[in-house]
Amino acid sequence: MNITIIGTGYVGLVSGTCFAEFGVNVICVDKDLKKIKNLRNGIIPIYEPGLNELVKKNISQKRLSFETDLKKSLKNTSAIFIAVGTPSKKSDGHADLSYVYEVAEEIARNLKEYAVVVNKSTVPVGTGQKVYDIIKKINPKLDFDVASNPEFLREGSAINDFMRPDRVVIGCKSEKAKNILRELYRPLYLLETPIIFTQRETAELIKYAANSFLAAKITFINEVSDLCEKVGANVSDVSIGIGLDGRIGKKFLHPGPGYGGSCFPKDTLAMVRTAQEAKSPLGLIEHVVKSNNERKKRMHKRVLSAVAKIKEKKIISILGLTFKPNTDDMRDSPSLDIIPALLKNNCFLKVFDPEGMNEAKLCFKDYSKKIKWCKDSYEACEDSNALVILTEWNQFRALDLKRLKKKLKTPIIIDLRNIYNPTELKNMGFEYYSLGRSIV
Ligand code: UDX
Repeated sequence: MNITIIGTGYVGLVSGTCFAEFGVNVICVDKDLKKIKNLRNGIIPIYEPGLNELVKKNISQKRLSFETDLKKSLKNTSAIFIAVGTPSKKSDGHADLSYVYEVAEEIARNLKEYAVVVNKSTVPVGTGQKVYDIIKKINPKLDFDVASNPEFLREGSAINDFMRPDRVVIGCKSEKAKNILRELYRPLYLLETPIIFTQRETAELIKYAANSFLAAKITFINEVSDLCEKVGANVSDVSIGIGLDGRIGKKFLHPGPGYGGSCFPKDTLAMVRTAQEAKSPLGLIEHVVKSNNERKKRMHKRVLSAVAKIKEKKIISILGLTFKPNTDDMRDSPSLDIIPALLKNNCFLKVFDPEGMNEAKLCFKDYSKKIKWCKDSYEACEDSNALVILTEWNQFRALDLKRLKKKLKTPIIIDLRNIYNPTELKNMGFEYYSLGRSIV
């Protein structure tokens, strides 16, 4: 089977490569010639564990190729995946669908024989119908279908999430389209992966509802963590105690500085807007959006209160800049709120992130004079008044704390990911602050 993936960003590149790994012939299309040339040479624009090797393997086995010419890439294709960006509009928080619509128009002008057009990008409910209408209007005689097939990939584990998904969701009516997509996902049958066939609108809503629910779960435990601090409870034990209930589940119950990334912030806002427009507002998700934004904007106060007694110029070390581990992605990372707020409070920062330094330097280029970019955790802690752990990279979980204590000018740690044990750190002589866990 031959398929075409339009958009070689995070979703398109991972999906195209994994479909090629399934044995499908995949052409990934992008307008960015430089990006396509790099991809042809195995140069990957994003950090995603395992992707580099998988792209090179499938290029060499001639199942994966990269093109800028859409017309050429649509010949003999059975399915065309739209995997372009749908960022939040700055004006009103709605998803910007201009790239999706542009692609739909190009498909209409260049597709000559039947294919199923598949929205892989996260798009508001009803977008599939709009894509159908655009193509039909431009090319009324064309035989085609439009389906929704949302992705549930987490950055940092995207390949595993694609190869071993909890489920595949497909929204379309046509049996012809269903058969093509069923054939495409056949390799997952061996894993008995549930494939849910439903209407397009339902598939579109499943994606937003999933991300909104996950964001709500995180916000819930973040707020419970704050309550724990007030009543002397331990949020880690609360997470375990409720997570063992099969109806709740233990995942996504880790308190932190607030969720970030390219999805939760964008998708919760889009879902809220869709619901408001449909006159069926989602008050819970409206609160999730507000609560999470406020959390990220006040996290720096925990750092300032921990170093309040330091009279001289405060030097603060920050380990972790990306929105989560195993990615170089800085989009909506809590560090984008916390670092400027600390700088505005006259702190000097020494920072390190295993993969995100280049991306972070672009984000903080206006502050470059007050930030020292360090080569590792220990250099970052040299002569600092406090260490903030902001992203739970594995290498930060096994720091040589004795060595760290010698490096720090004052042994203060603010652990915003709860990766250390409060009692152990206290016994080592650290002034240790974390979320929702008083030191017993
Ligand atoms: C998310 C969804 O998980 C995925 O299914 C969807 O396709 C895309 O959006 P992603 O944004 O890559 O994936 O990361 P995820 O692992 O979900 O984490 C999102 C944010 O929540 C991160 O900032 C993370 O630090 C935070 N988080 C996650 C918590 O604060 N606590 C948790 O327990 C889990």
